Amino acid sequence: MTEQDFIPKPYSKTIEKGSMTWESPSNIALVKYWGKKESQIPANPSVSFTLNDCKTTTTLSFSKKKSEDAFSFDVYLDGEKKDGFKPKIETFFKRIEQYVPFVKGYHFKIETSNTFPHSSGIASSASGMSALALCLTSIERGLTGDVDDKYFTQKASFLARLGSGSACRSLEGDLVVWGQHHEIKESSDLFGVKYPFEVHEKFKNYQDTILLVDKGEKQVSSTVGHNLMHNHPFAQERFKQAHINLSALIKVFKEGDLDEFINLVESEALTLHAMMMTSMPYFILMKPNTLEIINKIWVFRQETGSKICFTLDAGANVHVLYPQRECEQVGEFIKNELVAHCQNGQYICDQIGFGAKEIV
Ligand code: DP6
Repeated sequence: MTEQDFIPKPYSKTIEKGSMTWESPSNIALVKYWGKKESQIPANPSVSFTLNDCKTTTTLSFSKKKSEDAFSFDVYLDGEKKDGFKPKIETFFKRIEQYVPFVKGYHFKIETSNTFPHSSGIASSASGMSALALCLTSIERGLTGDVDDKYFTQKASFLARLGSGSACRSLEGDLVVWGQHHEIKESSDLFGVKYPFEVHEKFKNYQDTILLVDKGEKQVSSTVGHNLMHNHPFAQERFKQAHINLSALIKVFKEGDLDEFINLVESEALTLHAMMMTSMPYFILMKPNTLEIINKIWVFRQETGSKICFTLDAGANVHVLYPQRECEQVGEFIKNELVAHCQNGQYICDQIGFGAKEIV
């Protein structure tokens, strides 16, 4: 598939107004996307677990307007008008206009809500942009008539990518790959694809408890962060390493080798932060409590033989990953030892999920 394949033929139908609702989850990368080229093309392939409970529900209501000269929309979060969200959506509309030319023909009302608190430091861009992209793709399906499910998902993921790169990995589950990788022939830089190979049952229902260490605004926006990889002294090696780590994970997923899984996932998280610490300008996004948690996880693993591990986003919060069979033991450990390091003792229990759903 190329970008051209996502430019539609003239629409055969007209619709005056309507509304679509989609629910779409967040995801957590195991091999990280960090660095991008023009048009939201990733500098390296990434793979993520789709989450189950951290999600956004978006209703997109649309009505035909007379002129097609500008984008016209209002955004609401939990029923409250949010003009602060408009610039990001305006940029998104500009990027997708040639692929969904109907966007200038309608006025949109975007009503959105998240299952996680907006100020939790959990990125809502993956779930939010994927939910919005799915609503738009649904409208287009109505204007075109028949669209097969595979193309529908690819197009929605393609549009979601143009909103926020990681959003293209939120549509399906339970593992999604985005970015070309030589061992995964269906992989693409343009959209996410469901991980196509065997996955050992040890990874079924994998748990992710998100420890909210710092709920403040992101210190480094993703745009600024990705740009730091341009002219970064270690960028090329890092991009190569992501390919190598994804190859290694293919074997890990097949064989269920949790020790190797832990090595790869923790190394990816620390590499992401190492890239930020060694860029110009440089940043430390971990907080003292992030390091306390990491050290306690390492001690607990050493002492109990647990297969618990951590990963990080571009922030201070810690995602604690563990197999379902360890729920009770790790749950106790989190409550007794780790929650003390969370801001206001807050954390979110989640697990692997299976992607977005249309709400009818
Ligand atoms: C650290 O998808 O938020 O979470 O494409 O600029 O919207 P934009 O970036 P974004 O970057 C996410 C980076 C990450 C790693 C990952 O999810 O792979």
